[in-house]
Amino acid sequence: MGVASRYFKGEPLKIRQLLAKVALFAIAGAYPRICVAQPAAVTLNIQLDKPVHAVSPTLYGLMTEEINYSYDGGLYAEMVRNRTFQDHGFGGVAHWDIEQLGNSIASMAIDRTEGPSAALEHSLEIDVKQADATNRAGVRNEGYWGMALRPNTTYKGSLYAKADSADAGPITADLVNDNTGKSLATATMPGLSTEWKQYEFTLKTGKIDTSAENHLLLTVGHAGKVWIDLVSLFPPTYKNRQNGNRPDLMEMMGAMHPKFLRLPGGNYLEGDQIDERFDWKNTIGPLVDRPTHRSPWNYQSSDGMGLLEFLEWSEDLKIETVLAVYAGYSLKGDHINPGPALVPFLQDALDEIEFATGDASTKWGAVRAKLGHPAPFAVKYVEVGNEDWFDRSGSYEGRYAQFYKGIKAKYPQLQLIATAPLKRMKPDVLDDHYYKRADEFFADVKHYDTVDRNGPKIFVGEWATREGSPTTNMGAALGDAAWMTGMERNSDLIVMASYAPLFVNVNPGGMQWESDLIGYDALSSYGSPAYYAQVLFAKYLGTEVPASSLNGDAERFFYSVTRDSGKGAVYLKLVNASSLAQSVAIEMSGASNVGSTATVESLTAFTLAETNTISSPTRIVPVQTTIKGVGAKFSLSVPAYTVQVLELQAK
Ligand code: AHR
Repeated sequence: MGVASRYFKGEPLKIRQLLAKVALFAIAGAYPRICVAQPAAVTLNIQLDKPVHAVSPTLYGLMTEEINYSYDGGLYAEMVRNRTFQDHGFGGVAHWDIEQLGNSIASMAIDRTEGPSAALEHSLEIDVKQADATNRAGVRNEGYWGMALRPNTTYKGSLYAKADSADAGPITADLVNDNTGKSLATATMPGLSTEWKQYEFTLKTGKIDTSAENHLLLTVGHAGKVWIDLVSLFPPTYKNRQNGNRPDLMEMMGAMHPKFLRLPGGNYLEGDQIDERFDWKNTIGPLVDRPTHRSPWNYQSSDGMGLLEFLEWSEDLKIETVLAVYAGYSLKGDHINPGPALVPFLQDALDEIEFATGDASTKWGAVRAKLGHPAPFAVKYVEVGNEDWFDRSGSYEGRYAQFYKGIKAKYPQLQLIATAPLKRMKPDVLDDHYYKRADEFFADVKHYDTVDRNGPKIFVGEWATREGSPTTNMGAALGDAAWMTGMERNSDLIVMASYAPLFVNVNPGGMQWESDLIGYDALSSYGSPAYYAQVLFAKYLGTEVPASSLNGDAERFFYSVTRDSGKGAVYLKLVNASSLAQSVAIEMSGASNVGSTATVESLTAFTLAETNTISSPTRIVPVQTTIKGVGAKFSLSVPAYTVQVLELQAK
């Protein structure tokens, strides 16, 4: 079932969708009755027997990093915010509050001398002066803008704790509704000891209303000091992975038909300072051994989403990993000069590649196997750094060359991506980034038409039309769609492309970068119109680009034609970014047998500003229709502000 059919199940047909449908009937020749003003018709000639080049099978993929609470407070399903007490708030302990029930008396503070591991050297000390079984004291966690609870659902929790005396008694965990104070699920752990120990607990809700207005409460019924750390609570995750991901967001990514995942950034790879880079060795193994780190987007990353979790994310979506390795440049300008100083960083990258791709007989492959994943992951592309054109020292040329030599010596099969143009050598692939307004993309759709085919292959590793906030609007979807027509036309050169940023938590303070693809809060998620434009383009990718030309003048009208000869299908992607409907005569040659019906998916809006939001998530979604009366020659009218994909049968 298509995305649109899923969303529209049971919903009344909206006026816009009705209009889109009516416009499609215009194929039979009735369109002028509907639309008063209409620009001159254009003719799209397609020569199906003249393939120009193959479409890159990996054209569309995903780019990800910790930004906009993409992982913590996003994809990574952890519900406890600041679980290791390393976030800096404005006074107090960020996202935690003291709870003194009845006549209990307690206070809390960070203790920098007590922690459960070398990686987590401090903890939260709860000093309970007075408490008993009916006057309990403790702390509560607010979650990431609430905690989403659903009926009859099991939540798995754990924490590290110790007490100053062996008779401190147990900690009780409750999920409490913010508005009623009612406990919706409760569990009591075994009694605390004076040594750090991990306690696991299960909280099962009953017949409750689905809501995010809930918090986690941890209490004791005994006076004394208690220390806690790494407090964790997970809902059911995608494929039931432990320490796993939110199912809704995984499904939304799956619906984009991605072919790869570029990870882990972006700026997040580099960090503001060298010691804030994505230091992958600190992100693997038990959570208690992960020190966490500051992300350049100004919050602490829990590193619960570590390198292995990233790789498993690719595996769960059945896509390739494009592995970006830190290459000696961080955002505030620090860099490592090529030569001996860079050797340890190159070694880290080699170890990282071995961790991902080596079998269990290799040193780092064995570490991965010990962590529960004996099978190596498929990696074909390794990206050396990120946006190294920012490195004004001029060191990138030498750093790339050193990484290239070192990595190719051990892994000659890998394709190495450079993140800035090079003067002295030709990289395998060059990563180009584009953040533009729709008009700028319209003007630049022919960007790659004349690029030298003897140069490096191109990875458009980050791109987006930046219009609309927190997620993009229909204007952006049209800018994106126009740009994608250009990428498809040049997909002999462009091997991969990934939009950025992918995710945003739409709560106040959740966004560091405006104009994102998928928005969410604790409870639900939605796709922007631009998300659906990508769904459509990737769903109807095709395997080759036939010769085509557009005759006639049409402002803000763009197209792409691809074909899948194996399936006998031709895909027409028509992008009308104008406020007027556009008539198009289609003339196909080179196929003896063209079907008389076509499947059409349309994404339409009334205005460029129209958009989807967390409260109106399906205002603009693809509407699928089957139309009759098509053939080698037919006409159609593409409604204003519309991205339309036709699937025709032609042999
Ligand atoms: O996508 C947001 C940021 O834009 C990325 O982190 C960075 O690579 C680019 O500048």
